Amino acid sequence: MAMAMDLRLSSTLACLVLLFAIGNAAEELAASFVFGDSLVDAGNNNYLSTLSRANIRPNGIDFKASGGNPTGRYTNGRTIGDIIGEELGQPNYSIPFLAPNSTGEAIRYGVNYASGGGGILNATGRIFVNRLGLDVQVDYFNITRKQFDQLLGAAKAKDYMMKKSIFSITIGANDFLNNYLLPVLSIGARISQTPDSFIDDMINHLRDQLTRLYQMDARKFVLGNVGPIGCIPYQKTINQLAENQCVDLANKLAIQYNGRLKDLLASLSENLPGATFVEANVYALVMELITNYDKYGFTTATRACCGNGGQFAGIIPCGPTSSMCTDRSKHVFWDPYHPSEAANVIVAKQLIDGDEKYISPMNLRQLRDL
Ligand SMILES: *[C@@H]1O[C@H](CO)[C@@H](O)[C@H](O)[C@H]1NC(C)=O
Ligand SMILES: *[C@@H]1O[C@H](CO)[C@@H](O)[C@H](O)[C@H]1NC(C)=O
Ligand SMILES: *[C@@H]1O[C@H](CO)[C@@H](O)[C@H](O)[C@H]1NC(C)=O
Ligand SMILES: *[C@@H]1O[C@H](CO)[C@@H](O)[C@H](O)[C@H]1NC(C)=O
Repeated sequence: MAMAMDLRLSSTLACLVLLFAIGNAAEELAASFVFGDSLVDAGNNNYLSTLSRANIRPNGIDFKASGGNPTGRYTNGRTIGDIIGEELGQPNYSIPFLAPNSTGEAIRYGVNYASGGGGILNATGRIFVNRLGLDVQVDYFNITRKQFDQLLGAAKAKDYMMKKSIFSITIGANDFLNNYLLPVLSIGARISQTPDSFIDDMINHLRDQLTRLYQMDARKFVLGNVGPIGCIPYQKTINQLAENQCVDLANKLAIQYNGRLKDLLASLSENLPGATFVEANVYALVMELITNYDKYGFTTATRACCGNGGQFAGIIPCGPTSSMCTDRSKHVFWDPYHPSEAANVIVAKQLIDGDEKYISPMNLRQLRDL
């Protein structure tokens, strides 16, 4: 009798556990569509003839899914996009659009269009010879969108885009670093444009591209603002700055652009019915890590873990001949430009569950559950 009770009880429990699991499954992010630059590139540049590549060792050394082999990600492990997808329940990482196997079922959980060297403006990143700018990334999404009609049927596909997918766009840093601020007159735009007019161009272009994504049924958007690009090891090294200094002009441009981005997102939220635009304050988050690095268990926020040249190993990009630090989890920066996985984890956690200081008007878990 006691035995039978136990059995009944445990099968009731099992049912409850099962229900709970199903309840949770409904809250999983179905797909993540990732646009942007090297901060979130998951391997597109592997398929371009470009000077900007990361599919060389020791990049990816801590990336478990590849057994530590390079994948084209510009960091030692997962990007912020990877971590956010995992935490929100995306079943698989978004596949790079240019990967030959990015067809059929492989696109179900999302596609990554990001490209090292890419920017909002077409001319950005020209020094790398090849990269995907945002215009082209959105053109590629148009191809994906039609593939989803085939995969799920038109009605389901529309619902999947509008309700179950998140569209993240992490872009803008290269428009300054590899366009406006370039000293070479024939490449940079600085000679002919004031910061105001250059940033106007960026914002107008971005408005068009976000509107195009909306026309293709994107509704849940997250836009990363531009980080403190004056504080990356590359900038600090070439400008021969001290540990606690950053390049003023670069940071000022980022702050000015970020203010305009905030206004743009507010105006799009008003003008595009049913769309939600969330701003990820990457600037404030990365600045917090740089300023208070020791609080987060890092030993340096100035020296690249993998790189060579100058006082912060900040001139020559990370590659097989680079020197590498002994403890990768103790560096905010993996290479002269990009945060380490340890830093990405902290940033991603704040974006997922943090408050409006870092992610507004809602965090990514709330955006997913809308
Ligand atoms: C996830 O991706 C791997 C390859 O990276 C593939 O083998 C696996 O089938 C995928 N899982 C699902 C659920 O599609
Ligand atoms: C696509 O191909 C790449 C490279 O061969 C592989 O790492 C990846 O697991 C494949 N993805 C899927 C979804 O099959
Ligand atoms: C940027 O490049 C894309 C693709 O090559 C093209 O369609 C678009 O018109 C260009 N935009 C500008 C402003 O030149
Ligand atoms: C998507 O591509 C089609 C052509 O296949 C074009 O007519 C349409 O304007 C494009 N949509 C957007 C938003 O770019």
